[in-house]
Amino acid sequence: PMAPIEESKRRAAYQAVDDFVKDGMKLGIGSGSTIVYAVHRIAEKVKNEGLKVICVPTSFQAHQLVVSNNLQLGNLELHSELDVAIDGADEVDSNMTLIKGGGGCQTQEKIVASCANKFVVVADYKKDSKYLGEQYKKGIPIEVIPMAYTPVSVKIKKLFGGEVHLRMAQMKAGPVISDNGNFILDWLFPNDIADWKAVNNEIKMIAGVVETGLFVGMANTVYFGLPDGTVKVLR
Ligand code: A5P
Repeated sequence: PMAPIEESKRRAAYQAVDDFVKDGMKLGIGSGSTIVYAVHRIAEKVKNEGLKVICVPTSFQAHQLVVSNNLQLGNLELHSELDVAIDGADEVDSNMTLIKGGGGCQTQEKIVASCANKFVVVADYKKDSKYLGEQYKKGIPIEVIPMAYTPVSVKIKKLFGGEVHLRMAQMKAGPVISDNGNFILDWLFPNDIADWKAVNNEIKMIAGVVETGLFVGMANTVYFGLPDGTVKVLR
């Protein structure tokens, strides 16, 4: 049997796909471990129901996931308007503000989500928080142009406080390099922040910042798999 956390990811992902994915759609495909179940469900529907969909990936991982499940690949050059983008999240607050980018893919994820008419999030119960930082302790990932990583770090600390760490690779000496050839900063933010929209806007204005892992006002629907096997839906 599947571990409860995996089962909760699977149930959330299956329900999201069953509710949102229809024949002829152009889809955004997110990154991470939960989206894998969504892609399996999409592949099942393509096989069993003859559905035709086009999948635009948000990362190298998502690209491989689409290809290995024999789904039709798309891109934003050919398909700049998507019907639905589905993705995971690292944390979701009660306003449906998200932290994303635990896997370092937030820039492409945000671009793809911004091209979709509906952005649907799939997650397990550990991501369901009242406020950001309640359960997720790894901070907010910020993709930066490599030469700017120190000034950006200093500016974020001056503006908002907290700590900023350059994300380091595990199997190589040196920093993590994003799918776009950039560095990732992880901002351990102080717990007195309320206006995430303003914070996101201010960080984005710092020269050298490519994108933040804050998704404010983007999610239409969030599916959380719960430990009891049910799925909680936020709209
Ligand atoms: C990737 O950069 C992230 O934004 C993922 O979408 C997020 O970390 C969710 O991944 P899991 O489904 O593995 O939790």
